[in-house]
Amino acid sequence: MKTTISEVSKYVGEEVTLGAWLSNKRSSGKIAFLQLRDGTGFMQGIVVKAEIGEDKFQDAKALTQESSLYVTGVIVEDTRSPLGYEMQVKDFEVIHEAVDYPITPKEHGPEFLMDHRHLWLRSKRQHAVMKVRNEIIRSTYEFFNDNGYVKIDPPILTGSSAEGTTELFHTKYFDEDAYLSQSGQLYMEAAAMAFGRVFSFGPTFRAEKSKTRRHLIEFWMIEPEMAFMDHEDSLQVQEQYVSHVVQSVLKNCKIELDALGRDTEKLEKIQAPFPRISYDDAIQLLKDKGFDDIEWGEDFGAPHETAIAESYDKPVFITNYPAEIKAFYMKPDPERPEVVLCADLIAPEGYGEIIGGSQRIDDLELMQQRYEEHDLTGDAYKWYLQLREYGSVPHSGFGLGLERTVAWISGVEHVRETIPFPRLLNRLYP
Ligand code: 4AD
Repeated sequence: MKTTISEVSKYVGEEVTLGAWLSNKRSSGKIAFLQLRDGTGFMQGIVVKAEIGEDKFQDAKALTQESSLYVTGVIVEDTRSPLGYEMQVKDFEVIHEAVDYPITPKEHGPEFLMDHRHLWLRSKRQHAVMKVRNEIIRSTYEFFNDNGYVKIDPPILTGSSAEGTTELFHTKYFDEDAYLSQSGQLYMEAAAMAFGRVFSFGPTFRAEKSKTRRHLIEFWMIEPEMAFMDHEDSLQVQEQYVSHVVQSVLKNCKIELDALGRDTEKLEKIQAPFPRISYDDAIQLLKDKGFDDIEWGEDFGAPHETAIAESYDKPVFITNYPAEIKAFYMKPDPERPEVVLCADLIAPEGYGEIIGGSQRIDDLELMQQRYEEHDLTGDAYKWYLQLREYGSVPHSGFGLGLERTVAWISGVEHVRETIPFPRLLNRLYP
């Protein structure tokens, strides 16, 4: 019977065969412990000389790291291992012998590991991070599908910029200029007017010259957009969505969170509603904490966000930023037009901003005024104005950065470990 490590619980006491790689091994004179991985999980195989015979035992002892094997044996319960099972190996066959695998169990520096990302992905920790990432994606689709949203795919090659013109990747589109998408938002607004509630999930690109633990050049965003929903409605969707994702990871990624050494008590607290603080009050809070470098009208940097988040054990919304430091499409607060109806959601424990969102301007004249102020001329933006011309409605949306969310939930320091093949300021390979 051929099976996978993820399925072994169904075969206790039975003999099965696994296709696997040897991730590590140790042995004594009479017994060898093979650390097996097959992509679905990690499991120990025990080879006993007295049972398998002298020749096969010597073969087991000679197995090299990352060689591929078919391993046959009996599944037994083992309460000490994270999986809860191990295999008493009866036989094995080497498929391919790996010689001098570069990533050894000793410590390697991050640059070496990043150079070997194509192999590093096999390690237990990286495997756990990618499984958490996968669960976040799965529970994202679940949340939006269960709440009546339609998945819409915005284009990646675009003629206009959504967030600002400085961080765009430029390319030729036959004889025209084109840019890689920074955000699908403008298209999602069009989609919301056609389908009501929509969400997208796709790669976005920013030519940011930032070399921080929170910045990628290529990252994945989840962008919901909702017709007939105001800023407050959107904040409620955001806190419910993020709570759903965190609770799903807690439920379905126990082995992975354990492998990562994540403090799950902190994650258990992540339940809606989330606290909110206005930009004005956040400025005051920072001044009270001794930050003299920040004035009203300036954007927050990572140390500011971390200092604000420290006051809470859940993600916190910072609301109503000055219009001047936010995007052209955000709706001004009717009571105080110098601030906009927007919020950034800051993750706890110093992981920084995971969501940016806002209510959008729905008034045609005001949007035309913004176009002039921001010098948004040309055909690329004309269609976006038309959304305000024909049956304009209040609408809101937001973008959640997947990699920062994976970093926070996994408890991983740097976003480079939260995407399979990171694109960084100094890295396009592998
Ligand atoms: O705040 P941002 O720029 O918002 C938008 O792009 C809106 N158009 C989204 C919308 O309303 N539909 O980016 C949203 C999120 C950030 O909160 C952050 O999590 C992530 O995208 N993000 C990055 N993640 C990794 N590397 C980068 N360089 C990122 N820039 C933004």
